[in-house]
Order: sequence, then structure tokens, then C-alpha cells
Amino acid sequence: MLKVEDLVVHYGRVPAVHGITLHVGEGELVGLIGPNGAGKSTTLAAITGLVKPSSGTISFAGEDLVAQPPERIVRQGLALVPEGRHIFGSLTVEENLILGALARTDRSGSEEELASVLERFPILKHYFKAPAGKLSGGEQQQLAIGRALLSKPRLLLLDEPSLGLAPLVVDQVFEVLDDLRSQGITILLVEQNAARTVELADRTYVLRTGSIATSGTREELHEAGGLMDAYLGI
Ligand SMILES: Nc1ncnc2c1ncn2[C@@H]1O[C@H](COP(=O)(O)OP(=O)(O)OP(=O)(O)O)[C@@H](O)[C@H]1O
Ligand SMILES: [Mg+2]
Repeated sequence: MLKVEDLVVHYGRVPAVHGITLHVGEGELVGLIGPNGAGKSTTLAAITGLVKPSSGTISFAGEDLVAQPPERIVRQGLALVPEGRHIFGSLTVEENLILGALARTDRSGSEEELASVLERFPILKHYFKAPAGKLSGGEQQQLAIGRALLSKPRLLLLDEPSLGLAPLVVDQVFEVLDDLRSQGITILLVEQNAARTVELADRTYVLRTGSIATSGTREELHEAGGLMDAYLGI
């Protein structure tokens, strides 16, 4: 469904990603893990059109994404839950959600989508008219995921959704992702929480300083035994 081949991205003259190849099949939950500065966010930025690759190809459902601006990529059915959530604290929960609905091509279904998001995340219904800044970190992450779901994505991309959350809240976030997968939503999950991601994902790619160090299913990565070595580069 998503195919990234030999992706190279520079910031100015500095290479951030050098030659990443990965794919995500329909209905899969694929992990992309790696330490600080490995190039995880840059990879997501290239896929969603926020940075322009120096070389390589990115295609989604057979369509070339590289030449397309971010708003067209969203309309193809990709939705990004960005690092740090990007919630507008002074706007209400409702207003934050409406921003997600604006990305839809076909708005007719958005009432229905909204109802299903509020059913999935009751806390958002409870605080619907309250400023989003009043929500806890975990609740804001639910809002960020809910907002992305409003565009009815075919592929949901998440950038470190567990960052800064208490362990119990991290559990909830991972449960939500497991749930979304069982409903057939395809997911590319970027995380620093390597162990949890490998456990959850169908397959995981381990990124280290701009390239893929290793990849595989949880069984393959455990068997190889070198996951932490690959991850940490030791
Ligand atoms: N806007 C930018 N301008 C210049 N260099 C950047 C920029 N954004 C990222 N970089 C550099 O590119 C490399 C990859 O960064 P990236 O943010 O993709 O890593 P990451 O894996 O998402 O890290 P983290 O886990 O900290 O979010 C790093 O060396 C980083 O310093
Ligand atoms: Mg990042």
C-alpha cells in the first residue's frame, strides 16, 4: 500500500535520511523505531509531503506521492498524528476536531465520523466545549488521534504518540492502536518505545542514523537477538 524506496532527505547539505526502503501492506501495523535523531520524523515528513526528498520514490496505492503537495497527500487518505500532538490549547476540543474534518474531500460523512470518534474517546465528548489545553497529556493524544481519524484515513501515521506519557496512559494509547488495526486501519507507528512497538506491530523497522539497521516481525527480531544492538548501535 505504501512503498518507500531508497529515500534520501537532506536539510540543507546535511543528510538526515540516507537510503531508506520500507513498505506497509494494507491492514498492517508497521513500527519504525530508532533513537533520537535517527530520522524517524524526517521519514514521516517526506511521506506526507512536508519535506522534499533529494532522491528516492514514495508511492501510495500506486500513486507517486513525491510530486504532490501535503494537502493532496491528505486527500489520498494519509493522516499524520504529529510529534508533540500539535493541539491548539486555547481552542475547544470541538474546534480542534473540526480542523481535522476540514481535510476531508467528502465532507458528507463527517458527522458520522465525529460521532464515532466521540464514541471511541468518551473523554472528548465530556470536554467537547472545553479548551483543549485543560486536557491531560494522554487526553490530548486521544484528541490528536481522533482529529486524524476524522479524515477517514486509509493510512494513519503516528509520530511518537507515547512520548511524555505515564506508563498506564502509554498502555491506553497502544490499546487504541491495536483496536484501530483490528478495524482494518493501516498504521505506520514511529516510536522510541522499542520494546512496546515490536510487541504490538506486525513488523518493525529499526532505524539508526538515517538508515534501516534491521527489520522483521517480533519473532524474527527476538530470534535475531540483536535488536537492542541494532537499535543502540553497539
Ligand atoms: N529542520 C531541520 N533542519 C536541520 N536538521 C534537522 C531538521 N530536522 C531534523 N534535523 C536533523 O535530521 C536528523 C534526523 O532528525 P529527525 O527529527 O528525523 O529524527 P527523529 O528520529 O525523529 O528523532 P526524535 O526521536 O528526536 O524525534 C537529526 O540529525 C536532526 O538533527
Ligand atoms: Mg522525531
